[in-house]
Formats: sequence, C-alpha cells, structure tokens
Amino acid sequence: MKGAVTPSYPEADRKAIVELLNTALATEIVCVLRYKRHFFMAKGIHAESVAAEFQEHAADEQQHADQIAERITQLGGEPDFSPDGLSTRSHAEYVEGDSLTEMIKEDLVAERIAIDSYREMAEYLGTKDITSRRLMEEILAKEEEHADDLASLLEDLGR
Ligand SMILES: [Fe+2]
Ligand SMILES: [Fe+2]
Repeated sequence: MKGAVTPSYPEADRKAIVELLNTALATEIVCVLRYKRHFFMAKGIHAESVAAEFQEHAADEQQHADQIAERITQLGGEPDFSPDGLSTRSHAEYVEGDSLTEMIKEDLVAERIAIDSYREMAEYLGTKDITSRRLMEEILAKEEEHADDLASLLEDLGR
C-alpha cells in the first residue's frame, strides 16, 4: 500500500521532489536556529519588541519545517534532519550578526533568498505535484510577510 503516492505520480519526479523538499526543510531549520540565536541576543540588549518578532518568526519557521517533513513522508521519502551538511543543504545562511541592525539585515537577506528559492520550487512543482506546490506557495506567502516585517523594523530603527 503506497498511501498518497498513486501510479500516476512518476517515480523520477517523486525522488527529485523529495530531494527538493529536503533543501527547503534544511532552509527552514537553519532559519529556526538563526532566529533563536537572534531572539536570545536581542533579549540581552533589551530590544524586547524586536526580540518578540524574532521569536515569532522562529516559531513560524519551525511550523514550516514540520509541514515540509510531513509532506516528505507522505511522498514515501525521509526527512533529512541530520546536522551534518545542514548549512550546505540550506539555501539561506546562518549569520549571527553583531548588532540588532545587523541581525535584522541578515534575517531579511535570508528571507529574500527563501522567497526566491521557494518561488522557483513552486514553478518547478507546477502540475507535477499540486499538493507540494500549494504547500510551498503557502510558505512562500509567509516568508514574504516575514521580509515585510523585517523591512519595517529596519525602517523604524533608522528613524
Ligand atoms: Fe519558513
Ligand atoms: Fe521566514
């Protein structure tokens, strides 16, 4: 019994799509780690409202990671949670940042990278895997919200 994968789902596509989703999973995990680091460091410099935003984004990225891992298993694949090579599999980088402004800038860079790669993934998925495409589109919309939040924070800090 193959569950969600039916005979009309080509095997070659399934493997490529699982691999693709694993790069998205790695990206989300790296983003959770980066936002967690920024949350605790921002708390230390008494930037409570920015810290709260980092914490909220960390929770969103964790949810994305869970949704992607769930989809990978539905496709009969294995979600890759290995710390070995995690930053290589990820599209976005883990950058600590020396100041609050640097942290926000690095997060914005990472969100914009995620936006571009998820848009590409959604286009690739097209009609090959509509469910995975819809998931990536939903996550993409959230990353756009994140980028917008960060741009507003930068603007507020610049005032
Ligand atoms: Fe995310
Ligand atoms: Fe995000």
